[in-house]
Amino acid sequence: MRALVVSDLHSNIEALRAVMNRVRRKKYEQVICLGDFVGYGAQPNQVLDVMRRMHGTKLYIRGNHDRVAAGMDSGEGFNHAAKFAALWTRDHLSAPNRHFLQRLALGPVESKTGLVLCHGSPNDEDEYVFNESHARVVFDMTTAPIILYGHTHLPVIFAMDRHGRLRGASVRGETTVRLDREHRYLINPGSVGQPRDRNPQSSFAMFDAKKMTVQFFRVTYDVARTQTAILKAGLPPILAHRLAHGT
Ligand SMILES: [Fe+2]
Repeated sequence: MRALVVSDLHSNIEALRAVMNRVRRKKYEQVICLGDFVGYGAQPNQVLDVMRRMHGTKLYIRGNHDRVAAGMDSGEGFNHAAKFAALWTRDHLSAPNRHFLQRLALGPVESKTGLVLCHGSPNDEDEYVFNESHARVVFDMTTAPIILYGHTHLPVIFAMDRHGRLRGASVRGETTVRLDREHRYLINPGSVGQPRDRNPQSSFAMFDAKKMTVQFFRVTYDVARTQTAILKAGLPPILAHRLAHGT
């Protein structure tokens, strides 16, 4: 079983198209999305139309921005730009796309192959997991061998061996990581639509359950087009500026 793993698309259709172009000839049976389909960007319907029509088994969960854009939360905890964009999205969603967001599962969701999917952490979709001590707390929330998460927009892999020794490593560029069946893993594929590791390229991953590998990818997309769409829509300019720097 191979799964395409994406997260934090944030209404960035140029980025999503670049990702799909990169995996066009690759074989995968599952598409996993760890939430935040929308928010920040100006193309929520385009992104949702593509994600809803994806081939293969779809394992999708919602993110915090999806929750607000779907009208299920007022966005109180958001900063000004994030809230502005979430409310703008709420007003611009097509009816089918709004229903799709409203019906998205709240993580954690467990796949048939034993993966646990969550947006922030298995206990809280708004939780940011950045470091090893926090990763240890997250490992204790479940017994799953592999937990996939998003929300931080940073590609990273934490590994814990049988003795509870834990090691985290930020993922820089493209790489394939061989997983040890004796270890447990907490993996973030990074963000498709709004990377924040100072690399503006879209980040995503491919998980291979048979080979026990996770491959991280980075792809260049037309940042200027996405920025133009954001500015044209009247969304806060900071949302466009950040894309050029990957922050
Ligand atoms: Fe996000």
